[in-house]
Amino acid sequence: MTNDPPTTDRNEAIVDRAREVIPGGAQTGLRAQAYDTGDVAFESASGATLTTVTGERYTDYHLGFGPIVLGHAHDAVDEAARGAIDDGVLFGAGTAPLEVEVAERLVDLLPSVEMVNFCNSGSEATYHAIRLARAATGNEKVLKFEGCYHGWHDYVDVSVYPPADRVGERYPESDGMLSAAVENTLVAPFNDPEAVEEIFREHGDDLAAVILEPIPHSVGCLLPQTAFLETLREVTEDNDVPLIFDEVISGFRHSPRGVQGEVGVTPDLTCVAKALGNGYPVAAVGGRADLLAQAGGDNESGVVISGTYSGNLPGLAAARETIDTVVDEDVQGYLTDLGDRYREGLSDLLKDRGVDGRVVGHRSIFSVQFGVRGDPRDYEDVVGLDEERFRAFASGMRERGHFFTPNPYKRHHLSAAHDETHLESYLDDADAVLAEL
Ligand SMILES: Cc1ncc(COP(=O)(O)O)c(C=O)c1O
Repeated sequence: MTNDPPTTDRNEAIVDRAREVIPGGAQTGLRAQAYDTGDVAFESASGATLTTVTGERYTDYHLGFGPIVLGHAHDAVDEAARGAIDDGVLFGAGTAPLEVEVAERLVDLLPSVEMVNFCNSGSEATYHAIRLARAATGNEKVLKFEGCYHGWHDYVDVSVYPPADRVGERYPESDGMLSAAVENTLVAPFNDPEAVEEIFREHGDDLAAVILEPIPHSVGCLLPQTAFLETLREVTEDNDVPLIFDEVISGFRHSPRGVQGEVGVTPDLTCVAKALGNGYPVAAVGGRADLLAQAGGDNESGVVISGTYSGNLPGLAAARETIDTVVDEDVQGYLTDLGDRYREGLSDLLKDRGVDGRVVGHRSIFSVQFGVRGDPRDYEDVVGLDEERFRAFASGMRERGHFFTPNPYKRHHLSAAHDETHLESYLDDADAVLAEL
């Protein structure tokens, strides 16, 4: 696949109209960055292929920021969602068999999960988890880690991508955030057990929760050190502070049992979204029964977890089918093997071409980071990467038919629709692009 930049009239017409009525011409700032040479409108997606309104076809490594684990327009998932549409999409009263079936699957699969509340996005899930933790402890402060993204809300949108000269500070990512929320969000470096212990010595009595991506993929991939996760579990347990694993990216992508099932550290609360529904809006907060039971809804006390569209049936039908497919077809095994081969191939190319950089990742996720070496331990090991070089790489790859966001801190994703031919073509073209850089 070879593509020229999307400059045809149809694309421009749509993009111009979008800019009139949609801020920045796209639904989020990060989506607006999808092209560095101008915006683009997409028409359709199928399997591993993404197609623009002017017919350019790309092998998609973006996959909607990660939800698409089985491939775009997956027949069985779409069929399941269509079935739910035929039976009415939303009841808004009582429960429904699908709700119970998906909740039971999450309880069976995710070690920390005894009860579940559904919602529609990862941000809602982390919001609910923090509210449950605050209610249980009576405390307000939340500890998060630099480089971890947990959604857009004021409690957590702090120090995700601080500029190099603001590392170590509490850095609000957006204008308009409530200062009291930001002040109650403490930040520590990832993989630093001593920093966590220090914060607990100082603030242990005021902490409501510790939240983390157990593998921070919002900055490519930071692999957690066992001692770090074990310290987190120990200090949170000793201080009765709920530990929240944000498995919004990792859940059902890396494993149906989550990273928690891989590392053997069980949090108190878990958030899942993205790959849970292969692209349909469905998410969940689950965890210890006593914490979730606070949202039992007796209307006199307790925690409000609400949402008109929570538990919407097409989303749940998609989730049931996605979970069953991921488990029955060992999608994790397939994607781990394929991911290893992308990582090895790309690392060899960097070495052969003498390019300063590294390849990081886990299972179906990988990132190439230029101008940095070694295994990154925390955000500070990532922030110095060569952004320009990555954008040039993304641009060269895009011209050759491979799509991923040119944001150098993000990642490539693989789906069950990616195969050997995509791998070969990616590595051939990466070799050519690296030679040009
Ligand atoms: C780890 C993590 N948590 C939470 C979120 C927020 O999810 P959503 O965009 O569905 O609100 C994201 C989104 O990228 C994420 O990557």
